[in-house]
Amino acid sequence: MNKRINIAIDGPAGAGKSTVARKVADNLSFLYIDTGAMYRALTYKAIEKDIDLENGPLLKELLDDTVIDLQVGESEQLVLVDNMNVTTDIRSYAVTNNVSFVARQSEVRLEMVKRQKMLADRGGVVMDGRDIGTHVLPESELKVFLSASVEERATRRYNELIGNGTEADYDRIKDEIALRDKRDTEREVAPLVKADDAIEIDTTKMTISEVVDQILQLAKERA
Ligand code: C5P
Repeated sequence: MNKRINIAIDGPAGAGKSTVARKVADNLSFLYIDTGAMYRALTYKAIEKDIDLENGPLLKELLDDTVIDLQVGESEQLVLVDNMNVTTDIRSYAVTNNVSFVARQSEVRLEMVKRQKMLADRGGVVMDGRDIGTHVLPESELKVFLSASVEERATRRYNELIGNGTEADYDRIKDEIALRDKRDTEREVAPLVKADDAIEIDTTKMTISEVVDQILQLAKERA
């Protein structure tokens, strides 16, 4: 591939964005950036500091004082907050169910988008999130919108938890995914929506490698 394009991957919770995005990035030797991890990192720190998760100006102040670092780990992306490894902590129940409140604060989004744009400045980036194709990288050469039925997304999450030896309740997982989607879709600032020029891939009946191959094929065409 002679041109280092940027690839934007958006979609609802649990559609497989991060798994797929990481594999696409690995295959192309591109940099993978998980923007959800950035919102999770701030949410984690805000909870630790007992800061009101709906106070935009205060959260922005906290963010200004926070270094979020995404590093390439062996099997996963490492997330560091102020040099502390929080990769596992940011996937906690408390963070997952509160991150949408933090992410809907306009002050927070403005700063996050600024940081994300800088990371993609030189091309060669696969970035996943909710507003990448619409707000962060509207000029990206390839935009993908990954979807899957809420039942399928809940089943995947359920199997992942059970596979890790963690207790899980399918109905609860399904309700929480649906609620997070609702909050992300209905917020005022940069809601989750498919960009007009994004290619939608419904992954409900697809394997991970089928999705990855389809995106790689599209990337080849766009480069
Ligand atoms: O991708 P992930 O599920 O880890 O994202 C966690 C949350 O972060 C989302 O539910 C959403 O509220 C927020 N988010 C966002 N914009 C992005 C990425 C994530 O608002 N670009």
